[in-house]
This record gives sequence, structure tokens and C-alpha cells, in this order.
Amino acid sequence: MNVLLIGSGGREHAIAWKLSQSSLLSKLYVAPGNAGTDQIATNVDLNPLDFAAIGRFIRKNEVTMLIVGPEAPLVEGIVDYFNDSDKFEGLVTIGPRKAGAMLEGSKDFAKEFMARHNIPTADYKSFDSTQLKAAKAYLDERTPPYVIKADGLAAGKGVIITSDRAEAEATLDDILVGNQFGDAGSSVVIEQFMEGIEVSYFVVTDGDAYRILPSAKDYKRVGEGDTGPNTGGMGAVSPVPFVDAEFHTKTLNQIIIPTIKGLKEDEIPYNGFIFIGLMRVGSDPYVVEYNCRLGDPETEVVLPRVKSDLLHMFDALGSGMLSEYDLQIDERAATTVILTSGGYPAAYDKGLEITGLGNIPDPKEGLILHAGTTTKRGKVVTNGGRVIACTGLGANLERALERSYKLAESIDFAKKQYRKDIGQDVFTKED
Ligand code: GLY
Repeated sequence: MNVLLIGSGGREHAIAWKLSQSSLLSKLYVAPGNAGTDQIATNVDLNPLDFAAIGRFIRKNEVTMLIVGPEAPLVEGIVDYFNDSDKFEGLVTIGPRKAGAMLEGSKDFAKEFMARHNIPTADYKSFDSTQLKAAKAYLDERTPPYVIKADGLAAGKGVIITSDRAEAEATLDDILVGNQFGDAGSSVVIEQFMEGIEVSYFVVTDGDAYRILPSAKDYKRVGEGDTGPNTGGMGAVSPVPFVDAEFHTKTLNQIIIPTIKGLKEDEIPYNGFIFIGLMRVGSDPYVVEYNCRLGDPETEVVLPRVKSDLLHMFDALGSGMLSEYDLQIDERAATTVILTSGGYPAAYDKGLEITGLGNIPDPKEGLILHAGTTTKRGKVVTNGGRVIACTGLGANLERALERSYKLAESIDFAKKQYRKDIGQDVFTKED
């Protein structure tokens, strides 16, 4: 099978790494990929939003499966583009159509969906740019901290949480009138703050059958102790010790099954991943957000724990046979620590030479996954804010973290930064 994977982050390197182990794989292309995917697949210089160019590549290279990593092409309708054209008959697409991707593409759509299907989430109200006064007045109905979310895709920066009323009002001005997030901020959701601890669930579904991948916890803030601005994610751990059988059963019955049933009732076809960001409040799960793809850096700890063949799973998903697929999970723990470029998530340098990538760990103990990297004149250099994911595997989180941090120390580039406290809030010696 010839496969084209869209994306260029640590998530896509992890997917490519897993696909490259499959007996079904003939040729793997990654567009545009990074220096890591370049070592195990063929990188192709294609813009993920240029569907016509992707189509020409698919036909020329007899690609039979298209896997979409990031959300932007899904929300822009890449799956509709290929599924609705008779030129691409037989092409299996992994990822939802635009209608399903709206679970991530519009916070208001997701909130209405949850309200319609009685899926637990924070109370909320939506406002567009003509309703600035009403939006500010609604803050009176909420107890601080105020949670304000730009409606559309805002690269992880569209959620503002503040206890300061003046700052909340200024945020509404910036988003609704000042156009801070462009079209993504033409409306906002204001919701009740939920006090709890977050966990990410990953469900793959064809709209009927589903499989649940290992859950994970990511660390979004740049600074230790969850301080400083939000990032794409500074590290992740899996499993998440507080996800016990009772919490899992509640999540399954109150959230996962109603979500899949709700999509069906609303006649929204879905063929791909649903990433459910949850808050455990007391002992109950509440949805913080839906995403229409795998998480990053969560994928860098979730896929190393999947024992079964990922391409077989995608093949089953594409042929309506997901219900027959036997998903096997490795009991070991996986952790990842993200090496970032100094200054991230604000301005940072690119093109810095990365050393130590030859310190490849025993595959049973970990792996180096590239995110923002590229090759220049034969050298691997930084090409983004998040540069390398140092994934460790071990009998428990403590052992996996030791291995992640050993890797994090052995890889170097100018102004390297990473959090030293990944996982410390959730693990005990027994985990
Ligand atoms: N780690 C969060 C995300 O992928 O959106």
C-alpha cells in the first residue's frame, strides 16, 4: 500500500514510525515532513492546504491511502475534496469530513453538539462581534476565573483564562473588535471555569464501531509548575494514573458513546480520530474540547504503547471493518519531554544545528521523535519552536521519565529549553 501522510510535527513522525513497521506498507510519503520522517519515509514538499497539488501527487504516485495529521486541512475540507471527486475513487482517507472536523473547527458548534446530546461540559454562551456589550454583561453571570475561547482554530492560543474582570473585558475587545485571531475570533464562547485535572482521550471511529487508544496527559504551559504562556505542549505521559476503571467507565458511557451516537443522529459521517480533552472534576469527566485528530505531543506517548499494526487499523477503518480490529496495548508507561527553541512560544531562532541525535536509545527503552527539524547542507537543524520529542518507555512512569530526561540531556542545540517537571504531578513510585 502506498500511503501519503500529511503534516510535519512530532505527531507525524510518531505516526510514520509506527506505519513504517507495518507489513502492509509499500511506500510511505510525508508532506511536508521533517528531518525525522526523512529517515524512514520520503518527504514531499507539498503544502497541506494545497489540495489540488496533493491530488496530482496522489495520482502520479499511485497513493491508495491519505492520512491527515493536523486539523487545518481537515477543517478546510481535505477529506470532502478527495471523497467527492470521481478522480480519486478507491482512495482511503483517514480523517473526518469538514462537517465532523467542525467539532474542533468551531467551539460554538462543539458546545451546541454537547448540549443537544447531553454530554457533560461547562455552562457557556456564545457571542459574535455585534454582541460585545452582551458578552461583557454575561461575565456577571460567571464566577471568575473567566474562560474566553475564540470560536475557530487559533493554533492553541485562542483560550484565555483570567480572574481579572478588566482583562476579561479587554480580551473580548481584542478578539471581537480588534480581530486578534482573524476569522477564528469572529465569535467567542464564554464558559464556566472547571476546577480539576485534565486528561486526553483518543478514540478512533468509523461512525459506528470505535476503539479507544491509551489516554494521556499533556503539559501545555511553557514553565515548570504549569506557569507561563500556553504552548502546543511541552511533554506528555501515558497512562494517566488517576484514570481508573470507574473514571474510564463514566467517560465511556457519558461521553464517548453519546458522542459517536450524537454524530450518527446528526447525520455527520466520521472516519478518523476524535481527541477528547477532558477535565476530571471531583470524580466525573467533563469535556473541555473536541479535536478532530491525534494530539501532539500525546501521540508521541500513545502510539509507542500501541502493540498492534497501525496500518492494519487504518485499513480496517477504511473498509468498514474496525469492529473486527484487535487493538492491543502495551502495559508499559511512555513519557515524552519536548525540547524547544529558546524564546518559544514567542519569537525563536531557526536553523540551529542539533547534535546528539546519534544517541539512539534501545527501541525497548525509548525513541527520538522529530518535530520542528529540517536538514540543511547534510546537518539536522531546528526549524520550529518545538524541536524534538524525547520519548522514554519503562515498566512505570518513573522509569520512563528517567529515560526521557537522559535523552533530553544527550541532544543539544543553542538555547535548548525543556520542562524538568513533566509527569511529577501525577505519578507515584508505584505508577
Ligand atoms: N496537545 C494538545 C493538542 O494537540 O491540541
